[in-house]
Amino acid sequence: MKPYIYITRKLPSEVAEAIQAKYEVGMWGKENIPVPKALLIEEAKKADALLTMLSDPIDESVLNAGDRLKVVANLAVGFDNIDLKTADKRGIAVCNTPDVLTDTTADLTFALLMATARRIVEASELVRQGKWKSWSPLLLAGHDVHHKTIGIVGMGKIGETVAKRATGFDMEILYHNRSRKLEAERNLGAVYSTFEELVSQSDFIVCLTPLTDSTKNLFSREVFRKMKKSAIFINASRGPVIDETALYEALVDKEIAGAGLDVFEKEPISADHPLLKLPNVVALPHIGSSSIETRMTMMRLCLDNIDAVLSGKDPLTVVNKEWKVRV
Ligand code: DGY
Repeated sequence: MKPYIYITRKLPSEVAEAIQAKYEVGMWGKENIPVPKALLIEEAKKADALLTMLSDPIDESVLNAGDRLKVVANLAVGFDNIDLKTADKRGIAVCNTPDVLTDTTADLTFALLMATARRIVEASELVRQGKWKSWSPLLLAGHDVHHKTIGIVGMGKIGETVAKRATGFDMEILYHNRSRKLEAERNLGAVYSTFEELVSQSDFIVCLTPLTDSTKNLFSREVFRKMKKSAIFINASRGPVIDETALYEALVDKEIAGAGLDVFEKEPISADHPLLKLPNVVALPHIGSSSIETRMTMMRLCLDNIDAVLSGKDPLTVVNKEWKVRV
């Protein structure tokens, strides 16, 4: 009997075809709707491997569902949707997709920064709605990006790559991270700052820190109050890193100038969410790594990780580093 891999979302047919000779493959049939939890648990009972999405809660009920599960490969660099403790306890390898999405996610983060600063979405809507009556001196005047100060919170690979983009705009670069990034300091001129310094001195505050117990609600009302009134806040990490109500109030009270958000506390965000009523908010549906090339590469990396574990080898990108091949 071939080992069974369950994929929790409809992926392009070539993805499953690539592994069908060696593995039994099951796949949830919908592209835009997550697999129902009860079905996911049923599948996890039979599965040797799961290929999961960042929107799937891979909690105890899934990880404990059966005895066969050896690997969960998450189609994302983030893995806050997976209960690592339970995976560790059960000897299940958890894999993510770092590196292959770094440039693409940095591109999107910088695009979001530019779009928010230069009011690209508002401007496009004005034209589409036939409201462009004449050229006028301050029509949709935004904020300059070049020569400003960018403050990156979470200087992982994506953070460093955003910093690299910022050098092309002659920006001053501040960063805050658990550890110093000496190479980024040397090569990009990035300056390590305390969180408080970064928040109060930056024109663009870019949140790229992973969601953990210590980063949950890191951006509180108090933090937004410390920002410049002209500051633009960008979040491309995870929604719960910010207190959304605090962000809303900071925008309404004009304590900051705008926000570009690729991620939200609860995804998908509902169309009547108060943040979406504000013209100075640019909202995207969590598409940081979403280019065709990168998403296809991420899918292949997930399959390579699964294949490695099921073939008794070390996976390429395992999150629980203590995980060891069990024969
Ligand atoms: C991820 O992969 O974790 C990021 O959210 C990129 O979209």
